[in-house]
Amino acid sequence: MRVSITQIKEMKQKGEKISMLTAYDYATAKLVDEAGIPMVLVGDSLGMVVLGYDSTIPVTMDEMIHHTKAVVRGTSKALVVGDMPFMTYQVCIEDALRNAARFIQEAGAQAVKLEGGEGMAETVKRVVAAGIPVMGHIGLTPQSINQLGGFKVIGKTPEAALRLLNDARALDAAGVFAIVLECVPEGLSRIITEKVGVPTIGIGAGKFCDGQVQVISDLLGLYTDFVPKHAKQYARLSESIRQAATDYITEVQAGTFPTEKQSYVMDENVLAELEKYT
Ligand code: KIV
Repeated sequence: MRVSITQIKEMKQKGEKISMLTAYDYATAKLVDEAGIPMVLVGDSLGMVVLGYDSTIPVTMDEMIHHTKAVVRGTSKALVVGDMPFMTYQVCIEDALRNAARFIQEAGAQAVKLEGGEGMAETVKRVVAAGIPVMGHIGLTPQSINQLGGFKVIGKTPEAALRLLNDARALDAAGVFAIVLECVPEGLSRIITEKVGVPTIGIGAGKFCDGQVQVISDLLGLYTDFVPKHAKQYARLSESIRQAATDYITEVQAGTFPTEKQSYVMDENVLAELEKYT
């Protein structure tokens, strides 16, 4: 049985910290699922850390569906959340419903995430009313990077902090099951966490959130084009991969790979027979 949104909400009530990681492919999803992660987010960060775009803006629904299907195949226990890409839910509620439904029906995800606060509350309500669990996302919302003017901490002034608190309350009232707080000062995320009924999941939002989310490529030290302050590298896979590729190239050049261990042996009699005809 997969983790349900009810279990995620209960974790807040019980004071159990919630961990979430992104994943974009079958193999990684399988490993984090085996490790016991309760929630996997197929984030549109995919665009930057897997597809090499310079922001999340070019990511399409079809790309998200393709990768979400792989993550669903790789997991059996985690709740899989599909991240709705830019302009797939902002134009009208019908779009939001249709595209959210694709994540559930076509890709097999159990929930969707979308960016925005009070202005998205009506959309959230309608998607939730259609039976699709929604995770909110406020603070730094990367799909609005051109509006925000860059990757920065959100909610530093009293006005901005109040706006963010209102956004969180509006999402809570609209029926989200959790809210991602991205790049929010710790003091403010503590207040938001106390004031909303659903779990807050922080990324660059400090220790008072009910849970944490990290981009797997940051955690593994795999994506090094840009390492945010809030990322912690638990491994340095980029170094291991570069070294493994270098060793491989060296061995192929030297003729020390492959050895007998990696080769298939042919029966001597068959070989002798074959040599008669060559
Ligand atoms: O796309 C993503 O990976 C995200 C997380 C950073 C929350 O939205």
